[in-house]
Amino acid sequence: MPEGEIKPWPEITARDRELVLASLAGDRHSFGPSNQKLQEEFAAWNGNKHALVTNSGTAALHMGIAACGLSCGDEVLVPAYTWSSSATCIMHHNCLPVFVDIDFRTMNMDPDRIEAAISPKTKAIIPVHLHGLPMDMDKVMAIAKKRHLHVIEDCCQAHGATWKGKKVGTFGHCAAFSFNQNKVVCSGEGGAFVTDDADLLERAQKVWYFGETHDPSQKEEYHVYALGWMYRAPDAVAAFGRAQLEMLDRNLASMKANAAVLAAALKATPHLLLPEAREPEGPNWYNYTLRFDMKALGHEHDAGAFRHRIVKALVAEGVDTSVWQVFSLPDMTVFRARNAYGHGCPWSCPHSRQFEYDREAYPMARRHADWHTGMTTPIRHPNGPRQAELTAKGIRKVMEHIGDIP
Ligand SMILES: Cc1ncc(COP(=O)(O)O)c(C=O)c1O
Repeated sequence: MPEGEIKPWPEITARDRELVLASLAGDRHSFGPSNQKLQEEFAAWNGNKHALVTNSGTAALHMGIAACGLSCGDEVLVPAYTWSSSATCIMHHNCLPVFVDIDFRTMNMDPDRIEAAISPKTKAIIPVHLHGLPMDMDKVMAIAKKRHLHVIEDCCQAHGATWKGKKVGTFGHCAAFSFNQNKVVCSGEGGAFVTDDADLLERAQKVWYFGETHDPSQKEEYHVYALGWMYRAPDAVAAFGRAQLEMLDRNLASMKANAAVLAAALKATPHLLLPEAREPEGPNWYNYTLRFDMKALGHEHDAGAFRHRIVKALVAEGVDTSVWQVFSLPDMTVFRARNAYGHGCPWSCPHSRQFEYDREAYPMARRHADWHTGMTTPIRHPNGPRQAELTAKGIRKVMEHIGDIP
């Protein structure tokens, strides 16, 4: 492979083949031995009492909403900039997302804006550890305790990220992880719901499997106790996840080392705002997200468009970077229309409080959406420090000649 060529994520080895083929050689392809083992191994790795392996992170988030006993018309606080399903999982349960602007530095929900967003209908907070940068969980948990709210951590991008040295997904009442293609544990698609609370586990389990309550190893009851979905993952997928989980600590160490190389090499680059981790934040560097200082560049008025031109120049220099979401959530169509599944539901539900989303109320989310670009694969194993150096070289070249960009 020529120098500079980026190796794809994730690396597939003999161990992945061994575990997946062993699953196929078995006779339980639905919920089988690999599912059971992945649940135990993932819970042990993250420090949770219980885990349920799911077919997506979104499923695990929805299970969290149901597990916390939320009901129609209840409101859930969620950052104004995150993956769409951090918010749509709330609507799957007839509840309403209420957006909180982000802190531009941390890229996460601004904890100092949480209290102002709480209404008498608020029942939960979904702190999202976006791009693997951990939220201030002391502030979130203190507010939740004071205002009697549940906390469902969205750790879909944040496996191994820490706050005060403790892994995310262990602070809230429950948490959701994703195992999709880009995640630091990849099983193709997949995820996990985790909790320490046996009651939450039981409620999540009903949503997970058609509203039944039995353990999958027991005989079917053919009885529905609550509204359920079908969120389980196939055994072969769990086998793939187990093989990747075995490599997780090594892969996280490699991401951390590569991110440090990038940070050192890009430190004094003009007009570039680097992601910054302050004590006690322990990011996993899922997505090394850069922002261009559009104010200093004189491009605040056309930041999104100018950012796309910078990214084009970066890609031309061999930098494997791309823009993530260009919309904040309150700017997305479903929230503008306030209509998820017809007749304005869930916003028009008689149990819902009537309110509008003021799109001007989330300036930091919009600024981030317009100013950023991100990188995942170039700092992931098997790409090493040399790749990080080459990436930094390309970025410096473009930023030092930014005046040449039309
Ligand atoms: C922050 C965040 N939340 C939730 C999800 C949903 O995960 P999944 O794609 O596994 O449903 C993702 C990933 O897509 C994500 O990045």
